[in-house]
Amino acid sequence: METKPAKRIGVLTSGGDAPGMNAAIRAVVRTGVYYGCEVFGIEAGYTGLLSGAVSQLTVRGVSGSIGRGGTLLRTSRCKEFESPEGVRKGAEMMKVFGLDALVVIGGDGSFRGARDLAALGVTVMGIPGTIDNDIGCTDYTIGFDTALNTVRDAIDKIKDTAFSHERCSIIEVMGNHAGHIALECAMAGGAEVCRLPEEPTDIDADVIRPLLECRARGKRHFIIVTAEGVGQTQKIAERIKEACGITPTISVLGYIQRGGSPTVRDRVTASLMGVRAVEAILDGEESSIVASQKGEIVTIPIVQALAMTKKISEHDVLASKILAL
Ligand code: F6P
Repeated sequence: METKPAKRIGVLTSGGDAPGMNAAIRAVVRTGVYYGCEVFGIEAGYTGLLSGAVSQLTVRGVSGSIGRGGTLLRTSRCKEFESPEGVRKGAEMMKVFGLDALVVIGGDGSFRGARDLAALGVTVMGIPGTIDNDIGCTDYTIGFDTALNTVRDAIDKIKDTAFSHERCSIIEVMGNHAGHIALECAMAGGAEVCRLPEEPTDIDADVIRPLLECRARGKRHFIIVTAEGVGQTQKIAERIKEACGITPTISVLGYIQRGGSPTVRDRVTASLMGVRAVEAILDGEESSIVASQKGEIVTIPIVQALAMTKKISEHDVLASKILAL
């Protein structure tokens, strides 16, 4: 076994929970212990760091967690940590508990807190965990695949009924600012219309016209996928009733997209990212985000990582329209 200088490493989950977070925690604990370190779990995100809810995690303590959704450390969105005083207190608490480094599993907001902590000299490694897949520096975020499969399953089931009764179903999926779930699931579920928060929605032009065109081509059931951030689910339903004479059903999928046992992709990606985060700490790398780029797990310095952006592919949007013919 390769030896590395032993360290005391803290780990927390922050922001919205995502399936696979437990696999990442488990990987951090087991990798840390493998290299002779002590690993400490911090409860409920930065809130637990500030209140001192810190306790040692053991290799047996994380047994059985790889297949469980949610996060065994619990999570929060910590308002206090958005202020410079909160971050300073966080850096102090790292010293109080003798922690040499912190692994933060979460999304963009959590990483902004991590970046601020790193600016005060704390070594932080971020692991991207959010079902939205909206973090610029990484092709993939833990939880996305599980959420996609949950939504795909729901669309398939709703579609069976829409087909049998010749109905129109509007399915609202998560994504306040990012339409990755909506776009991929619309494509995978064979939706007639998909609306994303990244582009404005003119209901007549973007929903009614394509529906009427589909009907003219002989379609008799219709699936519309809309991201929650579009904010027009009810209005779309009302306008379809007026303009097409069909009364659509609305299914808001909500938190079923965030829970559930992680898929293989999420378990493996989370595990590899957890291993890499600890190895990066022990190799003395600067504070970074662990990312997946072109199939490789890499680390990107945190300030640089947070400046990166990710866009919905315009060609994928076009593809989903072509496939709806
Ligand atoms: O986890 C991501 C996400 O589900 C977004 O799609 C959504 O906008 C947000 O979290 C809602 O989170 P909450 O209900 O926890 O505020």
